[in-house]
Amino acid sequence: MRAIALFPEGRLDWVEVPKPEAQGHDLLVRVKAVAVNPVDVKQSPGSEPRILGYDVAGVVEAVGSEVTLFQPGDEVYYAGSIVRPGGFSEYHLVDERIVGPKPRPLSFAEAAAMPLTTITAWEGLFDRMRVPLHDAQGHILIIGAAGGVGSIAIQLARMAGLQVIATASRPESRRWVEARGAHHVISHAEPLEPQVTALGLERVEYIFCLTSVAPYWDAMMALLAPEGQVCLVLPPGNVALGPLWALSGSLHAESMFVRPRFQTPTMIQQHRLLSRVATLIDQGVLHTTLSEQFAPISPETLSMVFERIRQGHVVGKLAISGFDS
Ligand SMILES: NC(=O)c1ccc[n+]([C@@H]2O[C@H](COP(=O)([O-])OP(=O)(O)OC[C@H]3O[C@@H](n4cnc5c(N)ncnc54)[C@H](OP(=O)(O)O)[C@@H]3O)[C@@H](O)[C@H]2O)c1
Repeated sequence: MRAIALFPEGRLDWVEVPKPEAQGHDLLVRVKAVAVNPVDVKQSPGSEPRILGYDVAGVVEAVGSEVTLFQPGDEVYYAGSIVRPGGFSEYHLVDERIVGPKPRPLSFAEAAAMPLTTITAWEGLFDRMRVPLHDAQGHILIIGAAGGVGSIAIQLARMAGLQVIATASRPESRRWVEARGAHHVISHAEPLEPQVTALGLERVEYIFCLTSVAPYWDAMMALLAPEGQVCLVLPPGNVALGPLWALSGSLHAESMFVRPRFQTPTMIQQHRLLSRVATLIDQGVLHTTLSEQFAPISPETLSMVFERIRQGHVVGKLAISGFDS
């Protein structure tokens, strides 16, 4: 079968590899669409060609002997694992415990846009910061809200009941976060504190930082409410924890690959949350974050999408469908 690999010299190109076989808890999935994330773009070339890609939507072709959640023919979406070959391939193996049923109203591209960022946003909000799923009180500041993670985090936080303050720095990204349901939009290109004060607020109960931590740390500490929650999705670097202590604040780290990488007992939660989100999309409560789609899945299309993401101003998600031109 054909797959797309990152070669040692840094180019993306086709490789021919054997079609894998499903064993144990694995599903063999015929890949229909993929989405690209910053984590794909950040990968360094190794000494051998490496198949990249995490977000996949496709159709189950075969199942391993221990599979109980899916059967051949099922349409699925998932974010894969950092320790296995990636999803930019015609067929792909994935553990059923991190897979959800594809939301019925969505195309494969619309579905492929969702899983990695949805797992990140859901785990960050509900598993790490312990935002109640319903009737949550207070405000959340989402820094870097127009990207893939922010586009679903806004929807989930609003669904839970929080008032959402989203940051976006350009007219296009401002419009995008407003359309995703942000109650207020402020700019991360300007100091955050006066903009929050101008909303009539002194402090916020939750802060979800979806970009580099250090440039925003002092503002986060100035804006966090006593006993507030902060969640980071990138390593914090050398930030001072004193101000957090002074607030009895809680700092959470979200890394969505941890459950599949370490095969934690909580790994099945990723199946459950993707299934729950699929139902919420079926019901029209949540919506795809796809902003643009491309075809076919090829080294040329991927290289172009990688470059768009590298520039750092994508709104929502970019997905690519189909292996045939
Ligand atoms: N830990 C995890 O499990 C996990 C999971 C997913 C993603 N991540 C990481 O989280 C980050 C966001 O991911 P994503 O998929 O949402 O990225 P993305 O889609 O590439 O984010 C693009 C958005 O970032 C905003 N942005 C760019 N520079 C910014 C800055 N200096 N300050 C604030 N916002 C800025 C842009 O808004 P404007 O155009 O308005 O400036 C743009 O809309 C990435 O670094 C990614 O690697 C971590």
